[in-house]
Amino acid sequence: MSGITRRDLLCSGLALSASSLVARSAWARTVALLAGYPGPASAEALSAVAPREQLLFDFDWKFLFGNGTDPAHDLGFGVGQGDFDKTGEFEFAKAKFDDSKWRMLNLPHDWAVELPFVHDDAQQSHGYKPLGRRYPLTSVGWYRREFEVPASDQGRRITVEFDGAFRSVLVFVNGCFVGRNDNGYAPFRFDLTDFLAVGEKNYIVLRVDASFGDGWFYEGAGIYRHVWLTKTDALHLGKWESWVRSKVNDGSAVLTLGTIVMNESKLAENAKVSWKVQDAAGKTVATAEAAEQRVEADGSTAFTATANLNNPALWSVDEPNLYSAIATVEADGKVRDAERVSFGVRTVIFDAAKGLSLNGKPIKIQGTCNHQDHAGVGAAVPDRVQWYRLGVLRAMGCNAVRTSHNMPTPEWVEACDRMGMMMMCETRQMSSNPEGLAQLEVMVKRYRNSPAIIIWSIGNEEWELQRAMVEQGGKIGATMVEKCHELDPTRVVSAAVNGDNEQGVSDALDIIGFNYNLNFPEEFHKKHPTRAVYGSETSSAISTRGDYTTDPLRNTVNAYDSVVPWGETAEEWWKFYGTQEWAAGGFAWTGFDYRGEPTPYGWPSISSQFGIVDTCGFPKDTFFYYKAWWGKEPMLHLFPHWNFEGREGDLIPVWVYSNLDEVELFANGRSQGRKKVPRLGHVEWKVKYEPGAIEARGWKDGKPALTEKRETTGPTVAIRLTADRMEINADGEDVAILTVEALDKQGRAVPTANNLIGFKISGEGSLIGVGNGDPNCQQSDKEPKRSLFNGLAQVIVQASRTAGEIRVEATKEGWDGPELTPAKLAITTKKVEPRPFVG
Ligand code: GAL
Repeated sequence: MSGITRRDLLCSGLALSASSLVARSAWARTVALLAGYPGPASAEALSAVAPREQLLFDFDWKFLFGNGTDPAHDLGFGVGQGDFDKTGEFEFAKAKFDDSKWRMLNLPHDWAVELPFVHDDAQQSHGYKPLGRRYPLTSVGWYRREFEVPASDQGRRITVEFDGAFRSVLVFVNGCFVGRNDNGYAPFRFDLTDFLAVGEKNYIVLRVDASFGDGWFYEGAGIYRHVWLTKTDALHLGKWESWVRSKVNDGSAVLTLGTIVMNESKLAENAKVSWKVQDAAGKTVATAEAAEQRVEADGSTAFTATANLNNPALWSVDEPNLYSAIATVEADGKVRDAERVSFGVRTVIFDAAKGLSLNGKPIKIQGTCNHQDHAGVGAAVPDRVQWYRLGVLRAMGCNAVRTSHNMPTPEWVEACDRMGMMMMCETRQMSSNPEGLAQLEVMVKRYRNSPAIIIWSIGNEEWELQRAMVEQGGKIGATMVEKCHELDPTRVVSAAVNGDNEQGVSDALDIIGFNYNLNFPEEFHKKHPTRAVYGSETSSAISTRGDYTTDPLRNTVNAYDSVVPWGETAEEWWKFYGTQEWAAGGFAWTGFDYRGEPTPYGWPSISSQFGIVDTCGFPKDTFFYYKAWWGKEPMLHLFPHWNFEGREGDLIPVWVYSNLDEVELFANGRSQGRKKVPRLGHVEWKVKYEPGAIEARGWKDGKPALTEKRETTGPTVAIRLTADRMEINADGEDVAILTVEALDKQGRAVPTANNLIGFKISGEGSLIGVGNGDPNCQQSDKEPKRSLFNGLAQVIVQASRTAGEIRVEATKEGWDGPELTPAKLAITTKKVEPRPFVG
């Protein structure tokens, strides 16, 4: 991983002295850690091996708002009741339909994040956006695209694959209805072969209706994940049917490999399947072959084989070694289809007495729960931002994430595999109805080769199934657990349960997860000494980044580890789960702040305040509690800032999070006392405020180790821009994530600055979102301007497909007051081979 260099900083347009480099904010240091990014080699794009083609289908779509109640403004869809009576008659999905007035955009796209906020309490949990049946004008969106199917595709199966869309989708191709999907998180796909005109132009149209939701948090709206067009032979590997299981014995691993071959032709075929196992460098380290079998016309046949892997490089949190297995189907002497499956070799054991072990070594889950939206982009998160979000969590020592409360985006899972982040992967609907089981099945099949995943979760806090309907809960739970075991006998199944776990769904679970209620786990452990226990959801501590007062008039919560009545502070929960030998650790609610569920305040708050980092990923102070006790490096963090103009003489609480032995605090050079740091705790003083500086000096083994200083800054005179990376790929997808800060005359970051800043973007890229992490900020996420919030804002720019430079300029925008020295930054976009896409 390369850090931000001095040259990068100089690009910001400020002549920085050596001392201001030292004075870089803690955040800039964290960002520097995140610079490494292996590129958007998504599992989907990597998985296709010739002759299969997998094309990214994200670029150059057209979009139009429909109408949820008035067919006249919904492309005439639903006038009368005859829409579905004959095949081929949907005019909007035909060549002559005029879409010239529709808006051009690229996917992933979330239209919810583009909408204004509405003060409607019914919309509180979804983040006060005008979505739902009462907002027909903004709840339905149409997407349309023309695409060519070359004559060379004659005879191939062509499938459109959606990684997820929000929420109810109808798909039409060339005037024909081809299918529907009715949930916001599971992937769905349709074989288009029968509807396509080979050698000609084709038209695909989607009606996406976000009138209904799936959860109680911000969920976005639209095609917010990637779309793919896949082309295979009629004899091909089944989608997500290929799996690799490993068992480690004395320095070698036995691999079992399996897949299903489908035959969509009219003639039976004799097929054989072979596997090539490659290490991370692409070297073949094992091979396997399954005997030839017959695959009936319109039928399918399962193939399995085994292979030995000598001295496997194990997957772990510190060394996330990956392998891939290329499965190839041959028939008639020809390769007919092939795909690559990425996997890892590791041994995960949950033990009721000893907690979790990974490859034989005990490890605690230092986890966070996360929703999937980010500042500026909402639910349409670019691949690089997925990586960045995990990098932020990683930087505080987090080693596991729970995908609460839904099946995650593939790029999040893949980044976990590659970064060494364990996962609890959760489905949305806890039910054994066909929809619930279908969501569960696709989740397990889709991700069962990912070494990161250590727990499947069948759901979260289903009150009725745990209390009033315990009998049904037991049956539903058992069916879902059985389904997981059948598809993946290698992993434990659990659920996030808020209660005593003594009945209902809990009976069938392999391991027991507790949400909150720290009194339950130990009782349960004593009563059921053979059932492993962990914290599926803990904490719900709340704070507003960079704010040190709880003020219901401003909707702020101070940073000193505050908590909601049902939760626990960071220190409370980690002192419990981090120290019991039998407990496997736990997942804090939440890593990132998220839109919706504004807690503890309602309007005008539009985001939650549960995050350990805000919606941009800027750390709150609690981040450093975790970094101290979860990380491996010596750590010291002093807060608050020291800019309390007007509060001279007030006693200000001053805290230090550190894993050193002792810390001494100085205020304007005068010692405030030296204190021992309690294990898994913090140290604090009360200091009478006067401008100047506070400084914490930490000792380890009797020697001075680390110091940190907070100085009262002067007023803002300049803006600073720093980017996570100064060079990105010119592939139409990659992004640079910029931090905007306010500086005083001495180049120190001003932690209280809230100035509105404007951005000019030119060159080979565009602005895709802005944010500042303020849970109460209702400014647009898409306009080229944003207020700093307590000294920080974020700008996300995306490269075009032409190599060059993206130039960003940040200036003072639309307010009276002294001029600010603007900042400029030029990001290089380098020529790369983009992953294959539909042109
Ligand atoms: C939990 C729930 C989460 C979130 C959290 C807030 O009970 O599982 O989704 O609502 O409370 O504290």
